[in-house]
Amino acid sequence: MVRIKLAQAHIKLRMGGLVAIPTETVYGIAASLDHVSAIKKIFELKRRPPNNPLIVHLPHPLAVESYIADLPPGSQELMAHFWPGPLTLVLPIKIESIPNEARAGLPTAAFRVPSHPLTLQLLHLTGPLVAPSANRSGSPSSTAPSHVEEDFDDLVPVLDGGMCDNGVESTILVSKNGKWHIARFGALTPEVLAEQLGYYPSFLSSQSPPLCPGMMHRHYAPKARLLLGSDPYRGQARAVIGFSDRIYSGRKRFFSLGLSTRPEEVCYNLYEILRYLDRRGILVAWVDMDFPDSGLWRTVRERLERAAQS
Ligand code: TXA
Ligand code: MG
Repeated sequence: MVRIKLAQAHIKLRMGGLVAIPTETVYGIAASLDHVSAIKKIFELKRRPPNNPLIVHLPHPLAVESYIADLPPGSQELMAHFWPGPLTLVLPIKIESIPNEARAGLPTAAFRVPSHPLTLQLLHLTGPLVAPSANRSGSPSSTAPSHVEEDFDDLVPVLDGGMCDNGVESTILVSKNGKWHIARFGALTPEVLAEQLGYYPSFLSSQSPPLCPGMMHRHYAPKARLLLGSDPYRGQARAVIGFSDRIYSGRKRFFSLGLSTRPEEVCYNLYEILRYLDRRGILVAWVDMDFPDSGLWRTVRERLERAAQS
């Protein structure tokens, strides 16, 4: 277990090393944009397909200016309103400004300004960093330093910023034909975005071809098989993942996502529970999917549906 302080993290990154960093959403594995070998190392360590691009993390909204070709309408308002915070924008870039490896050869890149104070401090020292979520490709993301260590042992030192406040990844927006669309549901809800945009952003993922091929890969999945919310399957599962304010009959192990009225709590607990199943060697778990289809619940539903595909 290697936990390091801010000053050490700064030096490591400047010298072309990797550091796991805390954000308000999930932990990331960061590398400097100036070290292509470090960026390649991230893909190797995570066993991430090279066609799945990384997010560029910025210390400040203005830092985006060095990279972008032009700003789609409404970008500045979104940045001013939601950065720092769990919003990622996919923007057209000057292609030479970001290494090909980080953006999977695309003419666009994804940007965000995270709000975790420790990582903001780090970004002010290092400048922009690329960072995917700190998990083996396909597995649940890491929301605590111990999760990073579970996946990478001592291969990646961790800047310990405690548990992540949100517990699910940032919401990704992309602009098409003058409107913003959701490319990934996340910690920022469509409803909150709609207040700012003046319209409800639609979800892109069902479109073909996908925005980036990386989105099609397996995601967020534990080794355990998840059976989603239809009673007939319940008998096969030895464990129930449900809500603390509901009663589930039968003698099964119970894992609580939190209160069925508190989606923030459910997001906060979600990846820890998925990881816990594997730690305890549980093979099949039934998940109570009886919750709304709006707000943060959309994100919870999407993560569980993808986690159940294997
Ligand atoms: O909350 C988060 O966003 C976390 C923390 C660490 O910041 N990061 C994160 O990164 O979730 P990652 O690598 O697990 O997911 C980034 C996703 C990629 O899978 C890809 O789908 C999308 O961002 N992405 C990146 N660049 C893109 C681009 N140019 N066009 C479309 N999608 C892009
Ligand atoms: Mg990820």
